[in-house]
Amino acid sequence: MKPHVICLMMSSLDGRVEVSRWSPSKGGDEDQRGALYEATHAKLDGDAWICGRETMEEFAKGLPHPPADPGVPQRPLHVARSGASRYAVGVDSGGKLHFGGPTANGDPAIVLLGSDVTDAHLAELAADGVSYFVGDAPHVDLAVCLAMLQREFGIEHLLLEGGGGLVGSMLAAGLVDEFHLLLCPAVDGTTGGRSIIEAGETGLVDRVTLSLTSHELLDDGVLLMRYAVRSRPA
Ligand SMILES: NC(=O)c1ccc[n+]([C@@H]2O[C@H](COP(=O)([O-])OP(=O)(O)OC[C@H]3O[C@@H](n4cnc5c(N)ncnc54)[C@H](OP(=O)(O)O)[C@@H]3O)[C@@H](O)[C@H]2O)c1
Repeated sequence: MKPHVICLMMSSLDGRVEVSRWSPSKGGDEDQRGALYEATHAKLDGDAWICGRETMEEFAKGLPHPPADPGVPQRPLHVARSGASRYAVGVDSGGKLHFGGPTANGDPAIVLLGSDVTDAHLAELAADGVSYFVGDAPHVDLAVCLAMLQREFGIEHLLLEGGGGLVGSMLAAGLVDEFHLLLCPAVDGTTGGRSIIEAGETGLVDRVTLSLTSHELLDDGVLLMRYAVRSRPA
């Protein structure tokens, strides 16, 4: 069992994710596009949102501050806060995120970690009031983590909010149910920029099928497209 997963991404015409680099358009500077993304996120009303380590760094800007005596932190699960109406979940196999408090963008934070994470890092998260789950392997097993989020935190509706690396991994693992795309009238145009889906050599194209379920023309030429996703894990 796992939560229902809706991926929400905002893209330029060339499928890129770094909004700050896009060409401007009417009603479409970086702040306005950020506000549109947040408004769309709010309407979906998820129990939690999940993002990769790089994206979560926009909210977890702290420096390392492990307690002097880490003791023996709980493994695999530490629940700092239960019963919240919404959580922020970060995927951070190596333990590189530093919070400095219990929330990310106002929501209680949960971090998904790999088995190599140090006791000092876990003690830091616990001292900050952040919940965490440590997997059995160095790389986070997303299917195991999603089942845990549903079981331990009651998360039934999960919003997958980038970046392209985590989106690619979730699609490749067959864990995404819907894909909602905000397509903006803008171009990035650079060679080698980050894409909305980066699945590497996972063979994703042979295992995923998308079907358009609805679309909506929003203000200033932004198109919101909703797709049902059918995929099977490798
Ligand atoms: N336009 C949009 O809608 C939108 C939404 C979100 C983000 N963004 C932008 O996207 C960019 C970041 O995207 P990104 O793809 O570079 O990074 P990301 O997906 O945010 O983070 C990727 C990192 O997450 C960690 N990770 C751990 N387990 C993973 C797994 N199973 N699969 C994938 N990642 C895993 C890895 O960190 P380690 O290397 O430490 O292991 C990996 O490098 C930023 O510029 C951000 O602003 C745009």
